[in-house]
Amino acid sequence: MMSAMTTTWDAAAFDAFERSGWVGRSDAYQRGFARLTAHTVEPLLDAAEVGSGTAVLDVGTGPGIVAAAALARGAVVTAVDASPEMAALAAATCPGAEVRTAVLPELPFADASFDAVVGNFVINHLGDAAAGLAELQRVLRPGGRIALTCWEREAMRATAVFGEAVAAAGIPQPDDLPSSGLFLAGATDRAAAFGDLLATAGFVDERSRRVEWDHRVDPDAWWAAVVAGTPLTGSLIVRLPDGVVAGIKQRYDALVAPFAQGTPGQVALPAVAVLATARRAGSPLSTDEILDIVDAEDNVIGRAPRGEATAKRLRHRCVFILARDADDRIFVHRRTAEKLVFPSMHDMFVGGVVGAGESYDEAAKREAEEELGVSGLSPVPLFRFLYESPEHTWWSAVYETRTPTEVAPQQEEVAWHTFLTEDELASRLSEWAWVPDGLDAWRRLTAWRNAEPAD
Ligand SMILES: C[S@@+](CC[C@H](N)C(=O)[O-])C[C@H]1O[C@@H](n2cnc3c(N)ncnc32)[C@H](O)[C@@H]1O
Repeated sequence: MMSAMTTTWDAAAFDAFERSGWVGRSDAYQRGFARLTAHTVEPLLDAAEVGSGTAVLDVGTGPGIVAAAALARGAVVTAVDASPEMAALAAATCPGAEVRTAVLPELPFADASFDAVVGNFVINHLGDAAAGLAELQRVLRPGGRIALTCWEREAMRATAVFGEAVAAAGIPQPDDLPSSGLFLAGATDRAAAFGDLLATAGFVDERSRRVEWDHRVDPDAWWAAVVAGTPLTGSLIVRLPDGVVAGIKQRYDALVAPFAQGTPGQVALPAVAVLATARRAGSPLSTDEILDIVDAEDNVIGRAPRGEATAKRLRHRCVFILARDADDRIFVHRRTAEKLVFPSMHDMFVGGVVGAGESYDEAAKREAEEELGVSGLSPVPLFRFLYESPEHTWWSAVYETRTPTEVAPQQEEVAWHTFLTEDELASRLSEWAWVPDGLDAWRRLTAWRNAEPAD
């Protein structure tokens, strides 16, 4: 797909141009081009599942429009841009975010620091997109989501008209300026190619789609915005003599004229972007998986790796799911000897710890489906309690779900299993060694049921 151009591609020169090309352009970008890129901000955040409490990185934040929208959703926002000017603008627009100057593919963050990573029209600004994706994957936690946008080329009339006007005026591509970049160059289906690129980088569950809209703008204002606020078109045009620029502008006017609106001085230029999203592979529940640490009222007060949380008795969150088959029998199992806590003990619940940024509901569904080896479960939340022992403490959310009897329990978690009626289970309570938190949850569930008003 890219091989024909790869041999002549100079990634370092492209990156060097990107570092100089944005200088002096941030204010103009904010006033003009950012009104165009704003259109994909909400779809981008939706694709990355950014919500309240999500630790999100907005990479190539520019003036911070994505970061600001993520803050408005209640996310915990970090934003970086290679341009110190842009980073300063973003810091001014997003006082609630941590904003830094940082250049992909080297970010100043520890592995697995974020629940979500987003980049609005940034990946196409990297000399080496694969290296950038590898770095974004490193800072994303296992199971976390990435969402990125880029432009469609020809279909994207709002920008394509500039290159076409330059070409129509007979201006050759100057040797010292890069072309518009290699990103997905030559791909006939850019949405599919963007998804493939994420899969090749090692992400999973990749999805991509086109986002289309009309960019309604005064054509003269749009010309001025792109010339002043974007590095490639801007650098090419500002160096040309006035007469040549006037010739290009005439051709631009002719190209945008067919998009005139009823409103005088307005054009509706077709804008087409590609939005691609995927998940970082891996179970979120290894011992180095990051967990939210919570206080006695279940408010998040920090984060720690799971191993450290267990070792230091840092309060975190767990889910307990009682799984019943169609005959109301309860799934009971013995834990494997390798489990971090309570190895080889019996449990009448499936479940486990809640990952950082994960909701109880998400964790309940994930844990139940993974541990039982079935899909499409819908655990129903019942109540929460604070489990405390001298060694452990966690907020515990208790759920119930219906499961098929044909389960395929996870071998790493479940050494043995069966389905028992409530009476059979009650008679085993004093015979088998049960996990203490599960036993506590079971007793509370029984009491909660008895206290529940009958329908
Ligand atoms: C087209 S702008 C997008 C800005 C913003 N995300 C938006 O939606 O309007 C591209 C931004 O990426 C930044 N950028 C380019 N290369 C970068 C890199 N290697 N690392 C971080 N930021 C980069 C630029 O400085 C610029 O602010």
